[in-house]
Amino acid sequence: MPDPNRYAFVPTAAPLPTIVGGSGCYLHTADGRRILDGAAGAIVGNIGWGRAEVADAAREAMAACGYVVPLWPTRWRLELHDRLVERWLPEGFGNVFFTSGGSESTDSALRLARAYQVGKGRRDRWKVIGRHPSYHGMTLGTMSAASHLGRQAGYEPLLLPFPKVPWDDPEQVVKVFEQEDPSTIAGFIAEPITGAAGACLTASDEYWRVVTELCREHDVLLIADEVMTGYGRTGLKFGHQHFPFEPDVIVGGKGLGGGYVPMGAVATNADVAEVLKTSGFMYFTFTGNDASCAAANTVLDILEREQLVERSRAMGELLGTRLRDVLAGHPAVIDIRGRGLFYGIELDCSRDAVVAAAMQRDCWVYPAGSGPVPNAVMLAPPFIVTDDEIDTLVSTLRASIDAVTSSGV
Ligand SMILES: Cc1ncc(COP(=O)(O)O)c(C=O)c1O
Repeated sequence: MPDPNRYAFVPTAAPLPTIVGGSGCYLHTADGRRILDGAAGAIVGNIGWGRAEVADAAREAMAACGYVVPLWPTRWRLELHDRLVERWLPEGFGNVFFTSGGSESTDSALRLARAYQVGKGRRDRWKVIGRHPSYHGMTLGTMSAASHLGRQAGYEPLLLPFPKVPWDDPEQVVKVFEQEDPSTIAGFIAEPITGAAGACLTASDEYWRVVTELCREHDVLLIADEVMTGYGRTGLKFGHQHFPFEPDVIVGGKGLGGGYVPMGAVATNADVAEVLKTSGFMYFTFTGNDASCAAANTVLDILEREQLVERSRAMGELLGTRLRDVLAGHPAVIDIRGRGLFYGIELDCSRDAVVAAAMQRDCWVYPAGSGPVPNAVMLAPPFIVTDDEIDTLVSTLRASIDAVTSSGV
């Protein structure tokens, strides 16, 4: 068996088993275990694991050429672009910029907000308002716009002193817009349902109404960070569609490539694209990489063919019900919240201990929380999850929390 300690760049409290394969909702380890993947990896694998069709599509694109500078259209770029515009994005979102993942997408959206304002002759607008808590990636730019105290620790001062608003308080949002002076604000970035930083914190409709109105009034670009919530995770195509939240820019990653390829996308409406026509928008070397586009196109095709967004909604309702049946009222459970197959369980005990206890029981659950939510785990399995697998996940989580609380951790 390979020695897991040889791969120590991303440290973990205890060495994890080497993964040699996957199928459906399971990861297979080198020592013969099958781990039930209750978080689709890092909330990525919406279609589940081991789908040869996705690999075949990537292989075909890779074999055809290998690499094409992003300036040229290719079959795979055009096919993915058209599928997104015609079948996935809300009406009016006709322009898509491809990236290699979530951080590149959110960072590009910050750049886009600046380019949009400068293109309109407003050079004084540079601030992008973020929320507390939130997570938008690990570039220095996205860290400046986010508030994930754990992941930012040690990197301060961040690149830019971007203002922050609370995740749930519309009056504070109004106040911060006034204090900061709207003629200096370029954008506002928000996760429709907070992911790793808050374990599915969900603001009120009133909050999103106020944010949308203020952004409209002051021509501030409203950016929906759908890296976790996009592509069906919350039971609708995009998370913002649950709320009166009307973005100008939609950012995606994770589920778009389903975990098979590094892939992200930033979509904009025609107004934003029009402004950029003169200024241009420099690409990354791997913008629209053909193999990634081919794989992502197949992932979306599978989601459509198997009606997996609808399944995410239906199985999400079951997951929510089972979680409440088994965990509500538990002394170590503070809250259970979420939509679709995207649930956060806020804990009054060590989340790392709960994650480790679940792993001992062959289940992977996602550690989450920061700032006002110090301890939480998330359940977000692939959309193909079955009733029995949901029962196993929930009962294993219960057993893990019980084991941790009885040991006093
Ligand atoms: C909401 C959100 N935005 C951005 C990112 C960064 O994505 P990546 O890790 O693919 O760079 C993440 C990753 O967890 C995320 O959850």
